[in-house]
Amino acid sequence: MELARLKAYHEDTIDSIIEGIVVVDPSMIITGLNKSADMYSTSQSIGRDVFTVFPELDIPRCRHGFERAISLGEPTDVGEMVFQLGGDKVTLHIKISPLKNRSGEVYGAVLLSQDTTEKRRLESQLIQSDRLAALGQLAAGVAHEINTPLTLILGYADILSQTVGSDNLSNSYLKTIVEESERISDIVRSLLNFARPSNMPAGKCKVNETCRRTLRIFGGQMARRGIQVTMELDESEPEAAIDTGELQQVILNMLLNAMQAMPDGGHLGIQTRVSRDMVEIAITDTGIGIAPENLQKVFNPFFTTKEVGKGTGLGLSVSFDIIEKHGGTVKVESQLGRGTAFTIVLPMNGVE
Ligand SMILES: Nc1ncnc2c1ncn2[C@@H]1O[C@H](COP(=O)(O)OP(=O)(O)OP(=O)(O)O)[C@@H](O)[C@H]1O
Ligand SMILES: [Mg+2]
Repeated sequence: MELARLKAYHEDTIDSIIEGIVVVDPSMIITGLNKSADMYSTSQSIGRDVFTVFPELDIPRCRHGFERAISLGEPTDVGEMVFQLGGDKVTLHIKISPLKNRSGEVYGAVLLSQDTTEKRRLESQLIQSDRLAALGQLAAGVAHEINTPLTLILGYADILSQTVGSDNLSNSYLKTIVEESERISDIVRSLLNFARPSNMPAGKCKVNETCRRTLRIFGGQMARRGIQVTMELDESEPEAAIDTGELQQVILNMLLNAMQAMPDGGHLGIQTRVSRDMVEIAITDTGIGIAPENLQKVFNPFFTTKEVGKGTGLGLSVSFDIIEKHGGTVKVESQLGRGTAFTIVLPMNGVE
């Protein structure tokens, strides 16, 4: 009786631990696991090979961790990995330790997994919003700095035009100076507008206007890179149930990606469409495309194919979280060398 109670007590203790625990013998057969770990297995697990029950673990750094534990009796911090749990992706931090008896002999290994999905998500959102805020501040600062000399240039051009009289050539040069300066002034204004918080109430967003406004800040860069832009916006001027700043952030991330995918020019499309009670926003490019094996990974935090310093791999994961939080979805279709299409679907404003 005492023994049975002690056994139950140990089992309860282990099952109450929120970290997943999996125990294997030296031939990698599962000899025990707690409730939290059992959530991730799809079938009966005890007595079966650990890599069959948890195929995600079948990667070199995990195998190495088990080997080290069993042959050297040393623990390994395997680090974070992404697991599929039902339809969701979860990030788990894995550690593997040797299983030792009281005399110190190793007779298996213990894997401990901690769910770090939420921690990672918050971290990535913070890094991205810090980056965007820094970018916005920088842009606003630069825009402000440019305004002062620009006002002077326009002022002096005006004075000059009065002194050159009817000299046609000088007048045409002056006209160009004024026109081009006004163009700079437009760009500066759109930068300042972009950095300014929107005047739409929380949870409401004019989708077309947000697309136009976000595209405007890239207009010049796109033209210089030989990127043609087509916009096809739904005439009903749909509103989506999302904060304007948040949708702006998502579209900005996708436009930046599209632009970066077309270093030698191409075609960018933005389309909005109402379908039943949802608004669809499609952003398409004719860029380098995404390899099929990467297609499912692009929404993972820190997944990037860009060189160090160019990409942090956060744009899409943060965008995905933002859209999902508002009851929407993001889909991606791509063909290597052909191009990519991202489709955002969001509930319309005012529809329950
Ligand atoms: N339009 C696109 N065309 C081709 N590849 C894309 C496109 N959008 C995303 N990708 C791929 O998905 C990866 C992840 O994109 P994501 O925006 O999350 O990160 P990033 O652009 O690499 O870095 P960051 O956005 O943080 O600067 C990219 O590195 C790229 O490989
Ligand atoms: Mg990006």
